[in-house]
Formats: sequence, structure tokens, C-alpha cells
Amino acid sequence: MTIDQTALKREVARAAIRYVKPGAVLGVGTGSTVDLFIDELAAIRDSIPACVSSSVRSTKRLEALGFKVLDLNEVEEIEVYVDGADEIDPHFAMVKGGGGALTREKIVASVSKRFVCIADASKSVDVLGRFPLPVEVIPMAARSVARRLEALGAKVALRDFTTDNGCAILDASGLSIQDPAALEDEVNSWPGVVTVGLFARRGADVLLLGTAEGVKTFER
Ligand code: A5P
Repeated sequence: MTIDQTALKREVARAAIRYVKPGAVLGVGTGSTVDLFIDELAAIRDSIPACVSSSVRSTKRLEALGFKVLDLNEVEEIEVYVDGADEIDPHFAMVKGGGGALTREKIVASVSKRFVCIADASKSVDVLGRFPLPVEVIPMAARSVARRLEALGAKVALRDFTTDNGCAILDASGLSIQDPAALEDEVNSWPGVVTVGLFARRGADVLLLGTAEGVKTFER
């Protein structure tokens, strides 16, 4: 990551603060952009009763700053969820999971009213797939799922990583994802798949994009 990219991430992290609803439980995602968002949150800590986090990494960072972090089972609904993306397309569909937290991210997003995506300009693409698509799998299904991805034309690598759920991640590169929702449904239906890192069925509602000309806001 270049220094410029870090600066853009910091700007969108700061811009996301205005979407935080005072007095409401906040959903917090995972990644280097979210790390910067958590740092910015410290300034308004007293207005946030608690957070729900999508990873052990974010939970530790939040708790170190004095935030209360709740288990999702203690919460019925989340007003706002702020998270990054590895890629986002013009329809607000995303590839996520570069940091390995895709399953918990998808769960928290599913109960959130508003998904605010914070990303630097390099993440904005016309067609998803340039970034290798992460797929979390039950370890014994790694090869069977990899073969199915290869049949779609992907080159598949098993990441040297264990998720917070004790599972494995396959990274599928070389896919040009023309219909993200259809591919999300298909990969999710394969035995052994825990979660595919396509967020099309539940995409973002707001995109804060850090560009050289400043933060651009897109809403749908
Ligand atoms: C975590 O699993 C991912 O989905 C991240 O949200 C995504 O990889 C963006 O990460 P960065 O903010 O580090 O680019």
C-alpha cells in the first residue's frame, strides 16, 4: 500500500463518521480502511453505546479504545454498518474477504439497515473479478470447491490462513464476473462452501470513495 493510498483511506474513514447514528449500536467491518475508521470513532465514543464487529481483529481494536463490543446474538438490528471492500462495481456489488472476514461481514451486513462502504479509488471497477474472489470453505471441501471454481475458468490458490470460524479460504483469480448475484447464488449452493466473498444480494447502500479530488459520495 502506498502512502497516498493510506491517505485516501484515512479521508474516507473520516467521512464515514457523519453516517454513524448517535445512540445506536454500530456495525463495524474489517480491514485496513476500517482500522482507520475505528481510530476516527474514538473521538465520538461517548455517542456509541456499543458495536458489533465482523472479526476478532476489529473487536480487539475497538476494545482497546474503550468500546463495548456485543455478540450479534444480543442485537436484533443494526442501523449502520461501515466496512471496506476489495472491489465495488457501479451497482454497489462488492468483492470482499481480502482480510479473511467475509463470513462475519456478510452476517453483520445482513442485519444492518444501511451499509456504508469506505474505499479508496483503486477499489472502483466496472466489472468485478480483477481482485481474486475469496471463498471460505470447510477445510475438507477445499479441493472439491477448487475444482468447481477451476471449471468456471478460475485459477485457484489455497490461502495460508485460518478464518475466525476455523475454516479455509480459496482465492479464485481470472474470473470476469458479469452477473455477481447469479455467481453468488451458485457458489453458495456448493457443498462445503461457507461463504463466497461476493456481496451482490446485499450490496452497499452508500459508497464513500477516496479520490485524488477528495471523497466522492454515491448513494442508491
Ligand atoms: C476483510 O475481509 C475484507 O472484506 C475487507 O473489507 C476488504 O478486504 C477491504 O480491506 P482494506 O480496507 O484493507 O483494503
